[in-house]
Amino acid sequence: MRTIQNLEMMARLRCIACGAMPDSASQDFRCTSCGDLLEFFFPGWAPPAAAFDAAVLKALWLARRTSREVLDQSGVWRFRELLPHIPAEHAITLREGNTPLYDMPRCARVAGVDHLQAKHQGMNPTASFKDTGMTFAASSAHQKKFKWVACASTGNTSASMAAYAARGEMHSLVLIPDGKISWGKLSQSLDYGALTCQLRTDFDGCVRILNELVRQKPVYLLNSVNPYRIEGQKTAAIELMEQLLWEPPDHIIVPGGNLGNSSAIGKALIEMHELKLISRLPKLSIIQAQGANPFYRSVKEFGGKKLEPMTADTLATAIRIGNPASWKKALRVLQATGGEVEEVSEIEIAIAKAEIGADGIGCEPASAVTLAGLKKLRRDGFVRAGESVVLILTGHLLKDPDFTIKFHRGDLLGGASAESENAQAKYLQRAPVVLDANLGVVVAALEAAERP
Ligand code: F0G
Repeated sequence: MRTIQNLEMMARLRCIACGAMPDSASQDFRCTSCGDLLEFFFPGWAPPAAAFDAAVLKALWLARRTSREVLDQSGVWRFRELLPHIPAEHAITLREGNTPLYDMPRCARVAGVDHLQAKHQGMNPTASFKDTGMTFAASSAHQKKFKWVACASTGNTSASMAAYAARGEMHSLVLIPDGKISWGKLSQSLDYGALTCQLRTDFDGCVRILNELVRQKPVYLLNSVNPYRIEGQKTAAIELMEQLLWEPPDHIIVPGGNLGNSSAIGKALIEMHELKLISRLPKLSIIQAQGANPFYRSVKEFGGKKLEPMTADTLATAIRIGNPASWKKALRVLQATGGEVEEVSEIEIAIAKAEIGADGIGCEPASAVTLAGLKKLRRDGFVRAGESVVLILTGHLLKDPDFTIKFHRGDLLGGASAESENAQAKYLQRAPVVLDANLGVVVAALEAAERP
């Protein structure tokens, strides 16, 4: 039987298109033969060599939950047997992962399913799912002795990168679109000490500049084309399965922007299935905002044969992306798991976000596309009432308070939506009321709120 240590040593890089297997990655993490993306794979896992006991791994990971070792306390590094090897002395961790899985009873009712849960990746140290990939990729930068790390971002990657770079005593360069990211996210990268450049372009324009920059300067690229990011983000799915006692749900639903997260979660599911850690694959479905839906259109209009970049626009600024880098990886996991792709409108996102809030959970707008998408998948019959569903909430409510306040004040969207949607929004809106500091006035407000 192989020892557990051996498993993590066996990672190789491979191009997803031409299959080339470079010994190391170029600065832009593109295949030097064909220009496509690289991924890690683990040749030692292929049958019949993977003669190890899944139960041993599960017991080891569970035992680490009570360990006092720093790496064991991270919900990413705890699962290091399924990741490429990075020596412990290079690990930069903020004890990321370990995020809660919540029951969502009210949201289940509005979506028309019996059992709905949400894994809240917004409960990570910098309040988004990016930390799980960033701990791993920033550690790889540290191992490779880079002084500077950089990313293009809609705000969450940059916040996360800035934090991990600071912890690892590296400098960080952030390229973000001027004006189209929330103050919460911007303020994080400032406080964590990043050189923050707001470029007069959109996210896709920031990516273009960054790709040129890394070819000229010794700067380590930390966007999700970096395959270490994807490896770290896999652990959200591993941890989810552990929380579900290794009994997979029927459906997992994720938001789709640059499509790194869906690729990572799908990769983890496929690998866990291969390693017999789970007995069947959940269907992984990807939801995009209607105004930023290049992947939805790729699948629906072109059968996934090509992706036409677009100029993206949505108030869910985290996923305001018109040319997603990882679309081929995401397509592969969509097909392998039998998932669906769906698009949702601005009002559908806003309503779903308030519904998630009304369950006492809350999330940022991009995360709410999952519930909005579930409602549509349920109506179309792709999801059945008795099936179990897990939504991946990617960012915390406080990432974008501006959106939330505008929604509750009725200032978010014009009146262009259908009457039934406007009525649903109104029902959920809780604008603050300004009153005199007088007991009678407050009691009157309370009594008015109690009336049906
Ligand atoms: N949800 C949130 C809150 C995000 O910040 C992002 C992406 C996504 C969903 C989409 O995930 O790109 O892996 O498909 N934010 C990136 C950023 C692009 O720069 O923070 P994806």
